[in-house]
Amino acid sequence: MKITIVGAGNVGASCASLLAQKNIVEEIVLLDIKEKISEGKSLDISQMLSVINSNTKVIGITNDYLKSKNSEIIIVTCGITRKPGMSRDDLVKINAEIIRSVIKESIFFSPKTKLIVVSNPLDIMTYVSYITAKIDSSRIIGMAGILDTARYRFFLSKKLNISPIDIQSLLLGGHGDTMVPLYRYTSVSGIPIKEFLSEEENDVIIEKTKKGGEEIVNLLGTSAWMAPSASVVQMVEGILKDSKRIFSCSAFLKGEYGFKDICLGVPVILGKNGIEKIVELQLNQEENQILKKSANYVKNMIKKL
Ligand code: LAC
Repeated sequence: MKITIVGAGNVGASCASLLAQKNIVEEIVLLDIKEKISEGKSLDISQMLSVINSNTKVIGITNDYLKSKNSEIIIVTCGITRKPGMSRDDLVKINAEIIRSVIKESIFFSPKTKLIVVSNPLDIMTYVSYITAKIDSSRIIGMAGILDTARYRFFLSKKLNISPIDIQSLLLGGHGDTMVPLYRYTSVSGIPIKEFLSEEENDVIIEKTKKGGEEIVNLLGTSAWMAPSASVVQMVEGILKDSKRIFSCSAFLKGEYGFKDICLGVPVILGKNGIEKIVELQLNQEENQILKKSANYVKNMIKKL
């Protein structure tokens, strides 16, 4: 089984490395438009695999999509990334151009593939992928919710001095400042979070979560890659193992949560077919309002594009 990763930058190469370390796929094709980058990174990863006993083959390719033929999953990480002072939305035009051509080539050689979209602004790029690929929306999945939830769980774990492993949560909405972490659906080993901290204290953590990506951009001068790639690998594993786990992912909506013709973060069941089901929750008025604000924001960006 083959997985292709388009873009051999920090996120793409880390996805290749983490996925190869799991030893669950036969072949990873790491493809980039720039000469030598994917070849060099693939060699380094492959040599690491001899040390850690993984049989996955990692192949670096410059811009030849024929080598991606019949991929089970294609992970799209390419495009420009944020620099300090930029929002994810500043990337929209240039990344949309890149994504359109990448998706066309990818689908041509792997018509049955599932696409995991990582490029920013995430919900808009997932939408552009759907429109360009012309395949069933169950096979197009945007990665953001696992990452945003991971950040939220991390900040909560620091505040409460409790392991992040035991913190469960759910986020809805767009990947950005309008994300909607749900206090009502957050718990620690089954204990509602309200037993540990007030809604006001939680709001402070949510603000930190919203700025979690930006904090790293300001420190490093470029966007994060470790947590994003671990989140992608969790999705890949969910699909390959047909595990039917529930994750927040960006999905094309056809009326779910009252929205149509938009990609937005919602809880989905992931399995061998991609998105097997979008889970709809009964939101209260306040949650609905915040989600609507998030959806309007994403809709406007799509319209502008
Ligand atoms: C972040 C980028 C990947 O949130 O959007 O770090």
